[in-house]
Amino acid sequence: MIWSSINFYQRTIVLLTQISIFVISVGLIQKGNITIGELIALNGYAAMIFGPFVVLGRQWQTIQNGILALERVEKILELPTEEYENSKNTLNGNDFKGSVEFKNVFFAYKKNEPTVLKGINFKVNPGETVALVGESGVGKSTAMELVSGYYFPTKGGVLIDGYDTKDTSLKSIRQNIAIVPQEPVLFNDTVKHNIKYGSFKATDEEMKNAAKEAHADVFIEQFPKKYGQVVGERGIRLSVGQKQRIAIARAMLRNPKILILDEPTSALDAKTEKFITESLERLMEDKTTFVIAHRLSTVRKADKILVFKAGKVVEEGKHDDLIRIKDGVYKYLYEYQVGLH
Ligand SMILES: Nc1ncnc2c1ncn2[C@@H]1O[C@H](COP(=O)(O)OP(=O)(O)OP(=O)(O)O)[C@@H](O)[C@H]1O
Ligand SMILES: [Mg+2]
Repeated sequence: MIWSSINFYQRTIVLLTQISIFVISVGLIQKGNITIGELIALNGYAAMIFGPFVVLGRQWQTIQNGILALERVEKILELPTEEYENSKNTLNGNDFKGSVEFKNVFFAYKKNEPTVLKGINFKVNPGETVALVGESGVGKSTAMELVSGYYFPTKGGVLIDGYDTKDTSLKSIRQNIAIVPQEPVLFNDTVKHNIKYGSFKATDEEMKNAAKEAHADVFIEQFPKKYGQVVGERGIRLSVGQKQRIAIARAMLRNPKILILDEPTSALDAKTEKFITESLERLMEDKTTFVIAHRLSTVRKADKILVFKAGKVVEEGKHDDLIRIKDGVYKYLYEYQVGLH
C-alpha cells in the first residue's frame, strides 16, 4: 500500500513540476526572454533529471524487499545446527536392523508448553508392523518425529537398534528411515526431482517404477510435461491425494529399514486407496513399519496396535485381543467406526 501511494505521489509531483515549468516557460517566451528552441531543450533536460529520480524510487522498493528477505534468512541461520555426523554411534547399512524402543519417554515441544507424551513405553522388533491409533491430537505424529530424530525426549530415551537417538549420528538414522507424512512437502521443482528426493542415486527407470507402484503415473502421464512438470511452491499445483502418492513413490524409491506411514492414504478415493494399500503392503514386507490411521480397517493386520490416550499408551496388542477388552478404548473406537454407537 505504501509503495502504491509513493508511486502515485511521485508521478503527481513529476507531472505538476513539468506543467509549471511549461507554464512559466510560455510566459518567458511571450516576454521574449527565451526562445522556443531553449524551451524544448529545457524540457528535455528536465526529463533527464526526473527519469533517474523515478528509478531511485523503484530501487528503494527493491532494497526494502532485500532487507525483508535478509531478516527471514537470518531467522533460519540462527537455528541451532543439528549434529549429523559427530556423534558417538553410527549405524551403517547392513548393521541397521530396525528395532525401535521407547523407554519411559516424556516430551514437550517447548519448555513452557504442555507435555504431549507422558511416559511412553513400547518395543518393536525388526520387521514388525505397528499401528498407532487414538484420537486427534494425542501425540501419534509427535511420537514418530522422535523416531526420526527431529526432536528428542525431554525425559527417557528413544532407542534404535539399542542406541539412543541422542547419541547416534542422525545421518545414519535418517538414511534408513522413510516417512510418508500427514502433509507431504514437495519442492518447487519437477515431479522427477521430487520423487528422486527419496534417493538421489536412483536412475530414471527406478524412479518411474516407484511412481507406478505408488499409482502416481496415472496422473503424471497426463501432465503436458509428464515427469518434467514443475509442481509449484510446496506442490501447490497438485491435489493432496496426488502429493501423497508422490510421497509414497519417494518412500518406495528409498527402500528403507524403518517405514513411517502417517495416514498415507487419508486423501485418496476408495479405489486408488485399494491399489496403493496393496503396493504399500509389498513395501512393508521385512521392514519395521509404523502406520498411523484413523480408518481402523488398515490397522487390523498389524502385528501390534498401540492405543494412545492423553499422552500415554493405554492398550497394546493385536486387534482380536483389543476388541475383547471390556470398556476398552480401542473397542470403543472400533465399534464407533462400524456404527455400533
Ligand atoms: N510443532 C509443534 N509445536 C508445538 N506443539 C505441537 C507441534 N506439533 C504438534 N503439537 C501439539 O502436540 C499435540 C499432539 O500433536 P500430534 O500432531 O502428535 O497429534 P496426532 O495424534 O498426530 O493427531 P492427528 O490424529 O490429528 O494427526 C497437539 O496438542 C498439538 O497441538
Ligand atoms: Mg498426526
